[in-house]
Amino acid sequence: MRALTPSAGDVDLAERYAYPPGGTWLRANMVASLDGAAQREERSGGLGNPADRHLFLLLRGLADVVIVGANTVRAEGYGPVVPSEGWDGVRDGRPPVPPLAIVSRTLDLDFDAPIFTAAKARTIVLATATADPARLEAARERADVIVAGTDSLDFAAAVGELAARGHRRLLCEGGPGVLAQVVAAGLLDELCLTLSPLLIGGHPTRILNGPPVPVPPELALTHALQDDDFLFLRYARSR
Ligand SMILES: NC(=O)c1ccc[n+]([C@@H]2O[C@H](COP(=O)([O-])OP(=O)(O)OC[C@H]3O[C@@H](n4cnc5c(N)ncnc54)[C@H](OP(=O)(O)O)[C@@H]3O)[C@@H](O)[C@H]2O)c1
Repeated sequence: MRALTPSAGDVDLAERYAYPPGGTWLRANMVASLDGAAQREERSGGLGNPADRHLFLLLRGLADVVIVGANTVRAEGYGPVVPSEGWDGVRDGRPPVPPLAIVSRTLDLDFDAPIFTAAKARTIVLATATADPARLEAARERADVIVAGTDSLDFAAAVGELAARGHRRLLCEGGPGVLAQVVAAGLLDELCLTLSPLLIGGHPTRILNGPPVPVPPELALTHALQDDDFLFLRYARSR
């Protein structure tokens, strides 16, 4: 065991969090309290700090597509992705923003909301074949729809289709329900975890909420950064 002595000076976050070159790479970005809570009062925002928010936005800037579960969209009141401070140069040669790709079975989404009508990059809906046909039609009017799986989204097929459309740098913002399935499907390459210096108690979900992962991936620590009492941990699958 050794001490991680914080060295003085700012780090270049865009360099630290650069996607590896070539191939498809799926990164998840989550925040948790010291006792493992992924929610505070039904949302994740209460767990973070300004540095976490900055990183959240930067990771969007580095990504080609942002995958997110419909519950998170509803709970956090997601709007469209907009260019942010710190994105200078990170999107050179790419569209100004990455699209959101929303995972939904019910398609209980407000297709008149800005997330669909004001998105600079057309929002993608990851849907299932047995989705309500009228809702599927409504989704197609306002979004690019990828159908993968019958009753349940086939995450591997959906990720494959996103990559085939040129979205090889994938970012998953959860929520825990979606992330558990991404991990169970063996699709996770990297976890960016913000450790928040709070003890929440109660029964909030952890960052994965699903059945036990059949083959738990072993991840290697790439770096640990610090801001105030927050830790920013980057773990990657060793290839
Ligand atoms: N700590 C963090 O970093 C963090 C990050 C994100 C979110 N959160 C928090 O987590 C909570 C939301 O997470 P959550 O786990 O409840 O929801 P979630 O993972 O965001 O979304 C779950 C939804 O995704 C769709 N879905 C999931 N699996 C599917 C499948 N196999 N096939 C088709 N659709 C599927 C369903 O949408 P439909 O219901 O539309 O069918 C389901 O209700 C919120 O409190 C949010 O604030 C925390």
